[in-house]
Amino acid sequence: MKLAAWIKKSGVSARELAARVGATEATISRLKNGHALPSMEMAGKIAHASGGAVTANDFLDLGPETPSSPGNGLDGARILLIISGGIAAYKSLDLIRRLKERNCELRVILTRGGSEFVTPLSVGALVGAAPYTDLFDTKTEFDIGHIRFARESDLIIIAPATADLMAKMAGGHADDLATAVLLATGAPILLAPAMNPHMWAHPATRRNVERLTLDGVSFIGPNQGEMAEANEAGVGRMAEVPEILGAMEIIVGKAGAKPLEGRHVIVTSGPTHEPIDPVRYIANRSSGKQGHAIAAAAARAGARVTLVTGPVGIADPSGVNVLRIEAAADMLKAVEGALPADIAIFAAAVADWRVAQLADQKLKKKPGANEMVLDLVQNPDILKLVSRGHKRPELVIGFAAETQNVVENAKTKRRAKGCDWIVANDVAHERGVMGGEKNAVHLVMEDGLEDWPEMTKEQVAEMLIERVASAFSPAKASA
Ligand code: C5P
Repeated sequence: MKLAAWIKKSGVSARELAARVGATEATISRLKNGHALPSMEMAGKIAHASGGAVTANDFLDLGPETPSSPGNGLDGARILLIISGGIAAYKSLDLIRRLKERNCELRVILTRGGSEFVTPLSVGALVGAAPYTDLFDTKTEFDIGHIRFARESDLIIIAPATADLMAKMAGGHADDLATAVLLATGAPILLAPAMNPHMWAHPATRRNVERLTLDGVSFIGPNQGEMAEANEAGVGRMAEVPEILGAMEIIVGKAGAKPLEGRHVIVTSGPTHEPIDPVRYIANRSSGKQGHAIAAAAARAGARVTLVTGPVGIADPSGVNVLRIEAAADMLKAVEGALPADIAIFAAAVADWRVAQLADQKLKKKPGANEMVLDLVQNPDILKLVSRGHKRPELVIGFAAETQNVVENAKTKRRAKGCDWIVANDVAHERGVMGGEKNAVHLVMEDGLEDWPEMTKEQVAEMLIERVASAFSPAKASA
């Protein structure tokens, strides 16, 4: 059954389905309207969520996706296609044709490996201009230069993306034109990996995929299926061209939509360090991944973002104003200094207590004394103070890390703190949320509750910012 028909028949809304499968509502709408194709993984999730009613095949008959009437979500987009080495490179020739049909301004980089599979001549004939090949090609550098390449693209698509290229990207290498452009760009990057299933499943590739996902890189595929090598099958086939086009449309469409433009968003992130003496402090296991991902998603949605972060070991999100603090008292000062704001999202794991008396010299062990007693006092509750303060942002969101009765405790906390929404997550030890990559959260609002499926912290951030954008009244802006 078609997705649109199932949604109508089942009464499950696009929003609910999106939450169940860990996609955005916009993605489900595009899939529903036949404007995009799902990855095999997403098709599998939708099949599961619909109890088998909507299968992968139900997405295939897209109608408007014919060469004569291509979708126009990429109309005029400046696309940089990087073709790296792999048998799937032949499909990139078809991708070039489809992108030309869609009126894209297309440039192509053919890596050394890529040119083992398709020739510069065949690529050049389809593009209408010779592909670029090497960083140290003086003609390329004079002609355009890798920095201009990096800047002048709405989207960079790498198809096929080899395990080697992904490893280089994850490690930040820049030893040829493709990797130099990828390191220098601020444009969204989409990877269509293609490799042997064993290579895709290898722990090194898994690590690189995770790293790249955290860096904000998007993936389409790889799909399950037969490999070019005899008797090889599994996950590793490059996504089909219509799937790649669908993913590109979604990203380019998203890049254009700036629902939080003109808004100021404050995000707190990471732990706080409460000093005991000049060398010791009290801290917790927060990595800052969730808060940083939220700041990045808000910036992508066009907001001016102030990220107030405790000490973390992760990179600053791009396009965000970062204020670094150590203790809760400094975090409060920084947040108050950053007001006014339209939206404040308190994702930091602020220490509840600090020592009553900060020692100005390192505390020494006392001979014969086995015990050491520290007097603690409560830290200011930043979320509560801002929620109840006279500069209260229009929308205030808190987090609740709970180990039991997650939703009930979050509801109580929402009222006690005076915030609008609470994002509640279960941080019971076995779930590995603290410091991990994934999160299963509940969004507790005054008039409702949403249970989101387990997804990456990036996806939680994306979905939260989507909710913020749709709930937020477009009328007023603070600054
Ligand atoms: O009370 P609890 O620490 O569970 O509340 C968690 C929420 O409150 C989070 O949003 C956290 O960022 C915020 N908080 C705060 N200042 C504190 C303690 C918590 O902003 N001192």
